[in-house]
Amino acid sequence: METIRVIYEGKVCELPVIVGTEGEKAIDISRLRQTTGLITLDPGFGNTGSCTSAITFMDGEKGILRYRGIPVEELAEHSIFTETAYLLIHGVLPTRQQLNQFSVLLNDNSLIHEDMQFFFQNFPRASHPMGIVSAMVTALRSFYPELKINDEEEINLTVTRLLSKIRTLAAMSYKISRGHKVIYPRPDLTYCANFLNMMFDNPVRPYCIDDTLVNALNVFWILHADHEQNCSTSTVRMVGSGRVNLYAAISAGIAALWGPLHGGANQAVIEMLEKIHREGANVRDVILRAKDKNDPFRLMGFGHRVYKTYDPRAKIMKKMCDSVLQKLKIHDPLLDIARQLEETALTDAYFIDHHLYPNVDFYSGIVLRAMGIPTNMFTVMFAIGRLPGWIAQWKESRDDPDWRLSRPRQIYVGPAQTHYLPIDRRH
Ligand code: SDX
Repeated sequence: METIRVIYEGKVCELPVIVGTEGEKAIDISRLRQTTGLITLDPGFGNTGSCTSAITFMDGEKGILRYRGIPVEELAEHSIFTETAYLLIHGVLPTRQQLNQFSVLLNDNSLIHEDMQFFFQNFPRASHPMGIVSAMVTALRSFYPELKINDEEEINLTVTRLLSKIRTLAAMSYKISRGHKVIYPRPDLTYCANFLNMMFDNPVRPYCIDDTLVNALNVFWILHADHEQNCSTSTVRMVGSGRVNLYAAISAGIAALWGPLHGGANQAVIEMLEKIHREGANVRDVILRAKDKNDPFRLMGFGHRVYKTYDPRAKIMKKMCDSVLQKLKIHDPLLDIARQLEETALTDAYFIDHHLYPNVDFYSGIVLRAMGIPTNMFTVMFAIGRLPGWIAQWKESRDDPDWRLSRPRQIYVGPAQTHYLPIDRRH
């Protein structure tokens, strides 16, 4: 076992170095404070590992992403979302029989309690779907209170309920926000086709299932299915460390994903492209603003904490834009603008020096627009895709013998001890 020696104030501390499957190394500092009195400080945790994990491997320098060792490119080409979800959660690709059983369970658990519709009726119509879906996932706990987090049968049932019902909740939030009739899931449709049908079918214009869009949705959700210890996954692990029920931990993950620096970026990218299109802004001026430290504007969909090269998911998403738009005979001017922005940025010294490349969110909105998904539903689409990853990570942390309450330390920089001052003596 390799170690690293810390010598401080005459104390010597040998800390073990942990080596991962792909050669990544970490200093195990779990004994640092008790042996030296020191803690570490790492705002944003850019240098800090929260756990060991066997689920997803990323290499940010080489642009590698693998789920349970399988490259995401291969899964995007050969798999379907439910199969990839099974792989992430159970650790192996399912046999045909296992996948069929999984699909039957997802179908059997696709309805929500009828009383939940009243919740939707009382949200303001303009409510953001992320707030609705996060609240409704927490509400699932009230309808299924029997969850025991160490009962495998219960957990598998809860996992299936979450994976299946989140689609129904998302589509229902869209339909009710439009004042449209709610469309129920159908037993004869696959996971992705069912979602599109629940979103767009209506009594006077039946929705025609288009295989191009069903395939695109499978790939979209495969690409979003997990991404190791990102902000929302770390939130699920942290909230789960308090031994709360899985519904609450997932609801916290949905809330964490919402922000424009994280999953909300897919909505922010389209809003940025629409503004450029509407104003006829010059792409070079947009890039200049993105570089200007005095301007809060950032090029949304660009940059990543881990990837310092092209996000492998963005490469696939970009190709999918072309194939889907060509098959549907759609020309989206926003795609032209996105391409111009990428071309200009990738030849600009600032972006090159800062290792800023398109991430998963830069092109994903173009694909969602082609499906007819409204912009304010984009991050909900990300959440549905990320759900199997959150579940897999929660299960892995629950099964980790080192699983304990997550409670970071701090360095206090506030006032030294002082005393209470009666109000009449304050000024
Ligand atoms: C996701 O973690 C994950 O894995 C997330 C995710 C997942 O699948 O779970 O991949 C999904 O969230 C993708 C990221 C989506 N967010 C965006 O597209 C928002 C735009 N991107 C940035 O805000 C930023 O790049 C972050 C938040 C993604 C990452 O920021 P970091 O790692 O905290 O880096 P930073 O903000 O400290 O920036 C480092 C430098 C700064 O310049 P300097 O002060 O060092 O000169 O790069 C600059 C930043 O100003 N920079 C950008 C930029 N992103 C970083 N400048 C212009 N435009 C940008 N987009």
